[in-house]
Amino acid sequence: MSVDLSVEFCGVKFKHPFLLSSSPAARVEVLPEAARVGWAGAVTWTAEIMCDVEPGGDYALPQYRIPHGVKFIDRPPAFWSFQSTHNKQGLKVNDPCPEDRVELVIRKSKESGLPVIANIVGTRDIDYWVKACKAAERAGADIVEVNPSYAILPGVGMHLGFHRNLDMTRSLVSAVRKEITKPIMVKLNAFLIPQEVREWAKVCVEAGADAISITNSLPGVIGVDVETGAPVSTFVDINGKKRGMVEIVTGPAIRPIGLASVALVDSVVDVPISAIGGVTDWYSAVEYMMLGASTIQVGSAAIAYGLRMVKDLTRGLEQFMERKGYRSINDMVGVTNREYRVGEVYSNPGYSRSQPRTMKVIEELCNGCGRCLPPCEISGRGAIKVTDGMATIDQKLCQKCNLCMLVCPEGAVETIWD
Ligand SMILES: Cc1cc2nc3c(=O)[nH]c(=O)nc-3n(C[C@H](O)[C@H](O)[C@H](O)COP(=O)(O)O)c2cc1C
Repeated sequence: MSVDLSVEFCGVKFKHPFLLSSSPAARVEVLPEAARVGWAGAVTWTAEIMCDVEPGGDYALPQYRIPHGVKFIDRPPAFWSFQSTHNKQGLKVNDPCPEDRVELVIRKSKESGLPVIANIVGTRDIDYWVKACKAAERAGADIVEVNPSYAILPGVGMHLGFHRNLDMTRSLVSAVRKEITKPIMVKLNAFLIPQEVREWAKVCVEAGADAISITNSLPGVIGVDVETGAPVSTFVDINGKKRGMVEIVTGPAIRPIGLASVALVDSVVDVPISAIGGVTDWYSAVEYMMLGASTIQVGSAAIAYGLRMVKDLTRGLEQFMERKGYRSINDMVGVTNREYRVGEVYSNPGYSRSQPRTMKVIEELCNGCGRCLPPCEISGRGAIKVTDGMATIDQKLCQKCNLCMLVCPEGAVETIWD
């Protein structure tokens, strides 16, 4: 069976769903290589477009040349943060709006031959955003990603109240809508309670957004080196003192929140969704698609593994679709949300919480290790016993809490739906 990986998103045709997200992975100098190895498109890096990073100036050309045939690990370490790349650059947003620069970055990005989404961030002055978006349109951006959720530099986006203040964001999106004809995608952040994520998505669409992308990076502390007491990500401030901070976390650590946010958005608006957050392999991409996304942006994993990872993404996706009989991306988009209504249940008390299921041990897989006993004793009233190297479940005692299934290292517990 032949499968079609192409996607039409806001009227733009992408050869498959995988785009580079607004990050160093989408730098102007990187894009020709990104096109060569097969990415379907790119969202320009905010810092490069709006700040003091000269295109071609501060950077060496990309050195990564991963040989063919290198197998990328499916599930990398759980916590990544790439915030430190920004610390080094001492970025400052250009003010007034750098229209020439926006045009330059977009024109250069377009030379790669890839469809280009211009990621735009501005100051408190909505006019700044409008000018930048118009410049991006003039320069040939295929879609404009308005980014009120930009979280890194003080003095722009989220720090000024955009994305914390719904009215400001509404005014921003409608002001841009009035001035440009290209599709507008609004990049949201999942750092909101679920009801808010839905409200924000609705307001942006009412104000004229043609698509929503979610999620931007999330605040977090990735860890502490307990030998030294220093935070994992340490920097030196202008007084020469070592410091840490609540920074932005990206990569697989934020995937569950990204998945939730896509489901929440999908449940309230009828525009295409571009998913972002912790996509490292085809599997996580399909998870996002089934919850409602039709394009998938990749940042951290492309940086960590190199651009060639896209080959694994597309090959894996194609093989999955062939195996499952999906002919096109649209066949998968939103299937989970339609059937299970994931994005609604959290905040809808009218749903029954009953769990009409039976937990069952798969005898061929159980090795009687007893890993399921502690959670069952604590949460499940001791329904599980292990005798003669085999777990059994007393269905009268079983609370259907699911924990045995989640902890079993052998995958030897399944759910049978009544
Ligand atoms: C080093 C780095 C820089 C980033 N810079 C920006 C930025 O300038 N603007 C923006 O909207 N998002 C930025 N992001 C966030 C990504 O676009 C993306 O939303 C986030 O990293 C989650 O995707 P990921 O888990 O695939 O990295 C950056 C991410 C990384 C890792």
